[in-house]
Amino acid sequence: MLIRIERNLRELSLWAVGDEVREAVGGAPPKGARGVRVHTVKDPRLVLDTAALLALPSVRRDLVMRLLDFPVRETEFDGVSVTWPKHRFPGVWSPTIDTLLLARALRPLLRARPPRTFLEIGCGSGFLSKYVLSKCRDAGSPVAEARLMDINPDALLSGMEALAPVQGDTLVSYSLNRAGRRIPESGPYDLVVCNPPYVPRPHAEVNNPFEGLFLYGEIVRMAPRLLAHGSRLVLMLSSTSEAEVRPALARVFALRDLASLEVPLKIPVITARLSKESRRWMDYLEKGGRLLEDPTEKSGYRWWQRLTVVEARLPATLGSAGTARGSSSPSRRAARPVRLAR
Ligand SMILES: C[S@@+](CC[C@H](N)C(=O)[O-])C[C@H]1O[C@@H](n2cnc3c(N)ncnc32)[C@H](O)[C@@H]1O
Repeated sequence: MLIRIERNLRELSLWAVGDEVREAVGGAPPKGARGVRVHTVKDPRLVLDTAALLALPSVRRDLVMRLLDFPVRETEFDGVSVTWPKHRFPGVWSPTIDTLLLARALRPLLRARPPRTFLEIGCGSGFLSKYVLSKCRDAGSPVAEARLMDINPDALLSGMEALAPVQGDTLVSYSLNRAGRRIPESGPYDLVVCNPPYVPRPHAEVNNPFEGLFLYGEIVRMAPRLLAHGSRLVLMLSSTSEAEVRPALARVFALRDLASLEVPLKIPVITARLSKESRRWMDYLEKGGRLLEDPTEKSGYRWWQRLTVVEARLPATLGSAGTARGSSSPSRRAARPVRLAR
């Protein structure tokens, strides 16, 4: 299945492509077309809006469900696409609405000042890195060095496959980070991008290193090494944790909001309340006033969050002296560690 999202995020369409056309729609794609458009969504709030899809007229609904069965999902936004082979990389984060909101916010920044050096922390499928490399290459200013980090080896493999067709002369390196361990020292970079795990949970560090606010703390701690004066960090915030994260970031960075969107919190492992962990997690989020709620569920979802993409820059005194590697500027000392409450 191909999921194609317009650059302004105002329209999303679902397509049967390749053999899926014969198997789900019948016949062949029209001449010159990659596939058959099966359904279009206006102003999507999710890449797969299950509430809206399940409310479709039955024939359309069942066709969409058939498409969801196919083993490969391709997501295309603003001319850049990645494929996600579900069975090979089941645990890899394929592009979701937050990924696309971040990509949309990156677009004008990349046009105004394409980075020579780039880091993505938590690359998932590799979509955002591919987006950066593709847009810079198309603008005639290819990225010289890119680094992708994740704690999931499959995410790095997925990133490698995603970047292969657009890599050109860019020197790309991959770093397998350890969950809950310090991120490796590297940098500075002209541009750092991170769409981190952002939903806080109680005791994340003990029983689930994939969740919680760990990466925000690491970014704050590592800021003077990752970024030079003039570098940009583009980061996702969620209203579920913004009350802690924003002030912690603001102590180190000058922040500017780039984009914002309210979206459903569609993460059943958090919201389902069918396990002790999920009940404890939801209690923590609810009692902490961290969730936006639609008690009527007329929107199709009970729990919502507001996502905000921020640009963060170091003030001159904290950043590295220049973008040269290995600078021994005294300003490269570590920032005061900031503990983020969980
Ligand atoms: C919300 S997903 C975002 C994925 C991708 N950047 C996107 O926007 O589609 C967060 C990613 O961070 C990764 N991650 C979590 N903790 C990490 C850490 N300590 N170091 C590097 N990556 C981490 C996860 O494995 C996951 O791929």
